[in-house]
Amino acid sequence: MSKFTLGWIAAAALLAAPLAQAQSTAKLKVGLMLPYTGTFAALGTAIENGFRLYVTEQGGKLAGREVEFVKVDDESDPAKATDNVNKLIKRDNVDVLVGTVHSGVAMAMAKVAKDSGTPLIVPNAGADAVTGPMCAPNIFRSSFSNWQPGYAMGEVVAKKGHKNVVTITWKYAAGDESVRGFKEAFEKGGGKVVKELSLPFPNVEFQALLTEIAAAKPDAVYTFFAGGGAVKFVKDYAAAGLKKTIPLYGAGFLTDGTLEAQGADADGLLTTLHYADSLGTPRDNAFRLAYAKSFKLQPDVYAVQGYDAAQMLGIGLAATKGDLSKKAEFAAALEKARIDSPRGAFTLSKGHNPVQDIYLRQVSGKENKLIGVASKALADPGRGCRM
Ligand code: PHB
Repeated sequence: MSKFTLGWIAAAALLAAPLAQAQSTAKLKVGLMLPYTGTFAALGTAIENGFRLYVTEQGGKLAGREVEFVKVDDESDPAKATDNVNKLIKRDNVDVLVGTVHSGVAMAMAKVAKDSGTPLIVPNAGADAVTGPMCAPNIFRSSFSNWQPGYAMGEVVAKKGHKNVVTITWKYAAGDESVRGFKEAFEKGGGKVVKELSLPFPNVEFQALLTEIAAAKPDAVYTFFAGGGAVKFVKDYAAAGLKKTIPLYGAGFLTDGTLEAQGADADGLLTTLHYADSLGTPRDNAFRLAYAKSFKLQPDVYAVQGYDAAQMLGIGLAATKGDLSKKAEFAAALEKARIDSPRGAFTLSKGHNPVQDIYLRQVSGKENKLIGVASKALADPGRGCRM
């Protein structure tokens, strides 16, 4: 190599060094792709609130980079999902994607994230595939897999001695997978799912299906609904007179962030989830107080998942000094992290899904009160994940 070439390389290196540094102190663009309209609108807002609360607690910066948000309302519409996520990446040049609530939309996000290498943190959607067959070094989840609360409830309902159960849910990934998780544990425990009822997302015309449940007279019903749909289902179940005769169990989304609207119709319901309103730990108490002060609202599971998505981003950025191009270091930091969540500390499984306690909760006085731990440190099996 000539002296001239060497000199040129040295000069280029000198020029590149300040540029590289500048990159990791520039504003960090976070693309928030969440539902702000439709049956999951309140869930999207709670996730954003939780995320912002953590960033504010860090002085508005993560690893020295000021955080800036670009928001998209995904409308929980899978048909618009690929366009929406491509806009965030190509038009808005976001550094990281955070989203979303709906499993079908999240799967489209995961596909684009996997192909483009853009880091993605999923702050709700439980689509098993995201941390299963679609798992990737740059995809992480701060919430749960649909299998997790379903599986935990299957064990609870079997232990209660119920034998015949009817399930009812929306016909899409989240509903199907929640029921599949329930069925796996319930049938292992000696029960039988005798009928699987469903209606298209986000329909709420439950009447005909409730009539079928009344006619089938099962020992119990297991359900997955969330948001506005969960409010209406719980009210309709009670109005149909079924609450008095056939016990209703659900994944905890049935009664999370919904109790004000459900009122007495939700009283006594038992659900399983990775959060409860009365954990009483110093960590959760501090979170709940800060959230209530900031937003004049009580937090729910969605707020916690948003908060933890920001914590996870902070952990990855701290390990890479704010440089998201260091993908292996970013992933390694999260893979060995113990995330100090208000729900209780959790780690990530090999597919990057939380390994966490699933609580049994009961509705009482507008709260999901902690009854006990239904399943300790439950890990999604991550079926189909090769990383
Ligand atoms: C989902 O689509 O994965 C989903 C939506 C709302 C929830 C939970 C899961 O509350």
